[in-house]
Amino acid sequence: MDTSFERNKGIDEWLTPPYIIEALGSFNMDPCSPVKRPWDTAKNHYTKKQNGLLQVWKGRVWCNPPYGTETAKWLEKCSKHKNAIALTFARTETKMFFEQVWNKADAVFFIKGRLNFYTVKGIEGDSAGSPSVLIAYGKQNARILQKCGLEGKFIQLK
Ligand SMILES: C[S@@+](CC[C@H](N)C(=O)[O-])C[C@H]1O[C@@H](n2cnc3c(N)ncnc32)[C@H](O)[C@@H]1O
Repeated sequence: MDTSFERNKGIDEWLTPPYIIEALGSFNMDPCSPVKRPWDTAKNHYTKKQNGLLQVWKGRVWCNPPYGTETAKWLEKCSKHKNAIALTFARTETKMFFEQVWNKADAVFFIKGRLNFYTVKGIEGDSAGSPSVLIAYGKQNARILQKCGLEGKFIQLK
């Protein structure tokens, strides 16, 4: 097991495998990015230093938000922005999932298998403890999820 990934656990630095973002086209903004990132995930990035939640989001947004109780606020901002794809754990029964995903998103894409997230040093970690889901806010993003070519199951919600 990679120990640098273990050290990252619990502090939100679970970076998206690059092939996922590449399958979804280019993004204008990642509002929740590491302070020192191993690669770009969008044309523009906000980190904890600027607090991406308080910033104005412009254009197409990629959002793999901080996990746990923080996630709802980020998904709520994605739904208000109406132009985002988010990635989070597929905890489909939770109040948060009902409020921010089932009731607001345009589409979801359940990823087959478990993702291996990366550390801020760009090192691949072990398989995640839960399944992941991509969430489209906005019709164009729903179409992109439908045609993304990743292994998984697409469901249109609106
Ligand atoms: C799950 S990681 C995803 C990182 C990156 N977006 C990606 O897709 O690989 C969540 C990121 O949010 C950052 N973060 C936490 N709170 C934040 C805040 N208030 N504003 C901006 N970024 C924040 C963390 O430092 C971490 O890098």
